[in-house]
Amino acid sequence: MIRAGIRVVRIGEFAWSRLEPEPGQFDWAWLDTAIKTLADAGLKLVLCTPTATPPRWMLDRWPDMLARDENGHVRRFGSRRHYCFSHEGYRGECARIAGELARRYGRHPAIIAFQIDNEYGCHDTTLSWSDAARDGFRQWLAGKYGTIAALNRRWGNVFWSMEYQAFDQIELPHLTVTQLNPAHVLDFNRFSSDQVIAFNRLQCDALRPHTDCPLLHNYMGRITSFDHFALGRDLDIATWDSYPLGFLDDRSGRPQDFRDRFLRQGDPDFQAFHHDLYRSVGRGRMWVMEQQPGPVNWAPHNPAPAPGMVRLWTLEAIAHGAEIVSYFRWRQLPFGQEQMHAGLKRPDNSPASVLAEIASLADELRDLPRDDAPDARIALVLDYPSAWGWQALPNRTGATPENATDGFDYFSLVYDFYCALRQMGQTIDIISPECTDLSAYCCVIAPALMHVPESFAHALAGVRGPVLVGPRAAFRTADMRIPDGLPPSVPWLDCRITHVESLPANTPVPLEGAGSFQYWFEHVHTRMPVQVRTREGAVALTGHNDRYYLAGWPDAPALRGILTRLLSPLPLTIENMPEGLRSLDTHHFRYLFNYAATQQTWNGRTFPPASVTRMPRHPARSSSRSGQGDTHS
Ligand code: GAL
Repeated sequence: MIRAGIRVVRIGEFAWSRLEPEPGQFDWAWLDTAIKTLADAGLKLVLCTPTATPPRWMLDRWPDMLARDENGHVRRFGSRRHYCFSHEGYRGECARIAGELARRYGRHPAIIAFQIDNEYGCHDTTLSWSDAARDGFRQWLAGKYGTIAALNRRWGNVFWSMEYQAFDQIELPHLTVTQLNPAHVLDFNRFSSDQVIAFNRLQCDALRPHTDCPLLHNYMGRITSFDHFALGRDLDIATWDSYPLGFLDDRSGRPQDFRDRFLRQGDPDFQAFHHDLYRSVGRGRMWVMEQQPGPVNWAPHNPAPAPGMVRLWTLEAIAHGAEIVSYFRWRQLPFGQEQMHAGLKRPDNSPASVLAEIASLADELRDLPRDDAPDARIALVLDYPSAWGWQALPNRTGATPENATDGFDYFSLVYDFYCALRQMGQTIDIISPECTDLSAYCCVIAPALMHVPESFAHALAGVRGPVLVGPRAAFRTADMRIPDGLPPSVPWLDCRITHVESLPANTPVPLEGAGSFQYWFEHVHTRMPVQVRTREGAVALTGHNDRYYLAGWPDAPALRGILTRLLSPLPLTIENMPEGLRSLDTHHFRYLFNYAATQQTWNGRTFPPASVTRMPRHPARSSSRSGQGDTHS
């Protein structure tokens, strides 16, 4: 490890059955040896609480701790993440093991951080339909509403005679004959998110008294089932697990021909999106805890990264603010579920070819200034409750076999904006609507923010530059009702949505100029100037004085047109980046990353495949030698 330039190792994330082979009987000897071996070699450690893998004996203690899926089936022992966040008994066990670990190792000089659990929400584990979740939900509702009459009123339960007489009559929102009440569903999402936060907080409380190390968690790609911003406030660093090839095939939502073109490189925007998101979740502190180094085992197809891509992904993460990039995993395992998952070493302990790529990268990193960070002037808002709201009230009944791959969800819409901005060469911060200091930004974009908190509406009003909201902006109250006087209920917008349409993917609404709306279209009555119309003359974009409302889901050409209109008066350079070439401005450098499988030429420069080009933004201040930029293939 030392020879390969590795400085930090994460250990123990699933080790409960060895830490506590029998209830209350601990075996620390092996971990003491492991920590000493690594520390003596000069490595620093991240030690994990093992709570994502409760050992088998735990089920004998707490037979009802397993989660249930939406059909009520128990999610059994035999893999991992087999617990329900709401189970009080299991929560106690987690606090107990976290406390034991912290008491023993919390002040160990080689340990630099504690990771809590592993990948909350992964394998669809945030929501549980267990008895523990149902009881917890009832209590949570009683706490929120106080009286059942208030709940009935705010949920609108007079509709379809859904009124309750007591909190303990309320079931979890599943297995009904037809549509569920969206207010019921949204509250279940909020409750489930709160349970993840409470579960995590218990472990923070157990760890903090015994250690001064930062606490962190390794989040995942494209998980919206709990509020990462809210959870992140209890931690010191946000880390995430970056699997570019697995994510491209498994969750990027990109069409097949795109996935084929980027098979061995990954989606050129997906990693950057999550670096920017988690930098914000970690309030400026972000790491990549698991970086894919070779083929994984869990996506529909598992190709190997093209030569140079592991280096590119690593440098891209660092340019976006990652303080540490750690690879998963050190050695490929010859047994268990992940025996097809590559590591830096093969199962026979010989080095995989990627180890040499990483070893030479360690030398390159020494030259990078430590005080650098992305320099974003544009903020894009991501709001987890909006993702739940969009799901709870989609205004369509879901994917049919023909449109199963169309991305009708909130994340996809926000991601479309992100990709369009990056295609225009912009550097972006992703922020939550809890953020009220927007003074760093000359443009703020908040697509589909279903409920706009008053404080955020106020903050948006103060932005000096264009603000774009819609579609579905301030579309529902926090109780999932239509606001009085029709949406959007934003004081600085003088328009009203009269009705909405969801549309099949093959029936877009063409706009004047370029592009169309797809999937979603709102009919708007406005007293503000109309900036863009549909070809039939309806309002597509309305607004004045830098405040705009967008009435649909724009395809890529429409998005470019709308964003160009917004950004062109600003002191930003609007580019037209070729597919696969992406840029990032940090305080010191402009970076260019070539994700394309072939060499690209752009603005008179050539970019070999898998290359990273770094150019000083302020040559006088930079230590770089050439001033023309360095390209490395
Ligand atoms: C992550 C997880 C690791 C390992 C890896 C495989 O989601 O945290 O434990 O399973 O995926 O790619």
